[in-house]
Amino acid sequence: MNTSATQTLGTNAKDLRTAAALLGAGALVAFPTETVYGLGADARNAQAVAAIYAAKGRPSFNPLIVHVSDVEQAKRYVQWSDTADGLARAFWPGALTLVLPLKDGHGLSALVTAGLDTLAIRVPSHPTAIALLHAADCPVAAPSANPSGRISPTSAAHVLDGLSGKIAAVLDDGPCTVGLESTIVGLTPAPILLRAGGVSAEDLETALGHSLGHPPGHPLGAPQSANITAPGQLASHYAPAAHVRLNARAARGDEVLLGFGDIAGDLTLSATGDLIEAAAHLFEHLHALDKTGRPIAVAPIPDTGLGLAINDRLTRAAAPR
Ligand code: TXA
Ligand code: MG
Repeated sequence: MNTSATQTLGTNAKDLRTAAALLGAGALVAFPTETVYGLGADARNAQAVAAIYAAKGRPSFNPLIVHVSDVEQAKRYVQWSDTADGLARAFWPGALTLVLPLKDGHGLSALVTAGLDTLAIRVPSHPTAIALLHAADCPVAAPSANPSGRISPTSAAHVLDGLSGKIAAVLDDGPCTVGLESTIVGLTPAPILLRAGGVSAEDLETALGHSLGHPPGHPLGAPQSANITAPGQLASHYAPAAHVRLNARAARGDEVLLGFGDIAGDLTLSATGDLIEAAAHLFEHLHALDKTGRPIAVAPIPDTGLGLAINDRLTRAAAPR
C-alpha cells in the first residue's frame, strides 16, 4: 500500500493534469463531487480498484459507483433505456445514480461491480469532478473517501483526517454543496429506489410520472417489488453456481483449484501472495472457474488486510444455498 505523503492539489489546470496522470498510473485520487468527496480510481484497472478497498479498510466488497462525464460515456458501459434517458435528462449532471445492466465489452474491472452484471453509474455536477473526468479520460470508480465505518467526507480536510498517507492525492475544492450521497435508482428494468440521497423520491416520481418501487424489507416496501433485491443483499449476491470448498491445499476429484501464494491452482489469485493483486483477480477468476461447470476448491487466504474482504466473499460463496 502507498504510505507516502498524500498531495493536496488545487483546481488549476496543472493540478488537474497531475491528478489525471495519477489516476492514469493506477493511483488513488480523492476529488470533490456535489454530494461528498469520492475516492477515485480508474474503473478499468483492477489493481487500482482493489487499492480503493485496501485504503478504506473495507471488510467486504461492496460494488462501487462509476463516475463519467456525460450520457454518451455512460452508454459505453451500460445498456441504456428510455427510462434511463428520461431520468438522466431530468437529473444529470447531479446527485442521481442509475443501476443498469452492464454492456458487453464494457472493459471495467469485475471488482467494481463485485461480480454483478449490473453497474451503478452517475454523471456528477461538480465542475471540478467533471474537469477531472475529462482530463483523466477514463471511467472513475469512487466510493465516499472515508475509512470504512466512518462518516462521509464533505471537505478535503475530512478526507485527509481519514486517509492521509494512504492515497496519492486529494483535490481540494472546498465543501460539498449537497453533503449527502447520491440517490440510487435501480432500472433492471422497473425503477426501484435502492438508496435515498441527494435527489428526492418525490422529484423522481414526478420525472417518471409514476411511483417508485422499494426493495423488500424497506419501511416503504411496495408489494410489486417483492422479488427485487435491495442493495445490501445485491452487494452480496454474486456467488458461483458451483459448489465452493475453502482452505484447500489441493484439488480433489473433479474440482478446479483457485490458488494463492505457494499453492498454484488452475487459476491463481496471486502467486506472490499479494492480497491487493488477489482482490483484483477474485471475481474474474471465480467467474472463469465457474464456467467450467466443476466444483471449485480455494487455497487458504490470510485474514489480514484485503484478505478479510476476500474471505468474506469466499465464505458467502461457499455457504450452503
Ligand atoms: O454520492 C455518491 O454516490 C458518492 C459520490 C462519491 O459519488 N459515492 C458513494 O459511493 O456513495 P459508495 O461506494 O459509498 O456507495 C455505493 C452504493 C453502495 O451502497 C452499493 O451497494 C451501491 O451503491 N451499488 C453499487 N453498485 C450497485 C449495483 N450494481 N447494484 C445495486 N447497488 C449498487
Ligand atoms: Mg460510503
